[in-house]
Amino acid sequence: MSHQPLVSILMGSDNDYEVMVEAARVLNQFGVPFEMTVSSAHRTPERTAGIVRGARERGVGVIIAGAGAAAHLAGVVAAETILPVIAVPIDSTSLQGLDALLAMVQMPAGIPVATVAIGKAGARNAGILAVQILALGDADLSRKLVEFKAEMAAGVETKAKALQQKLAKDFPPFP
Ligand code: RP5
Repeated sequence: MSHQPLVSILMGSDNDYEVMVEAARVLNQFGVPFEMTVSSAHRTPERTAGIVRGARERGVGVIIAGAGAAAHLAGVVAAETILPVIAVPIDSTSLQGLDALLAMVQMPAGIPVATVAIGKAGARNAGILAVQILALGDADLSRKLVEFKAEMAAGVETKAKALQQKLAKDFPPFP
C-alpha cells in the first residue's frame, strides 16, 4: 500500500497467507494502511527483529503476527517492541492450530500478546482489534467501527426474519 503503514502484518510462512489475508481485508475495508510480509521467528530471526525494531519509526501502531506449529513469532515480536502485538494461531499442522494457540496464549508474565481464535476468524478479529486500538486516537475510525457494528446487527436481524419465514413455510400451523 502506498500510504505510511499503521499496521504491520507478519506471517511465519507464505503458506499462512490464505488465513492472514483476512486481517488485511478488514484493514482495507476500514481504510487503514498496512504492510504485510513473511518473516519467521525460527528461519529468519534477524529479519524478524529488524522489521519489528523499525516499526515505530515507520509509523506502525499495531503488529499482527500469524504463525503455525511451534508458533513463537508473536512472542519474539513482542520481545522487541512496546507496540501492541496481536497473535493469530494458524492451523497448518496435524494438530490443527492447537499447537500454535497454546504457544501463543501461554506467554510468560511481562510479554503480553493478544491471542485471537485459530484460523480465518482469528485473522479477521485481529484486523478488527487492530482497528479498535487505532480508533482510540482516531474519531473517524471510531465512527466507522460504530457503523460496522450497526451493519452487523442489522445483518442478524435480516437473517432472523428470513428464518422466521422459512420456519412458517416448513412447519405450517397445525390444522
Ligand atoms: C510456521 O510453520 C509457519 O507460520 C507455518 O504456519 C508453519 C509451517 O511453515 P511451512 O513449512 O509451511 O513454510 O513457522
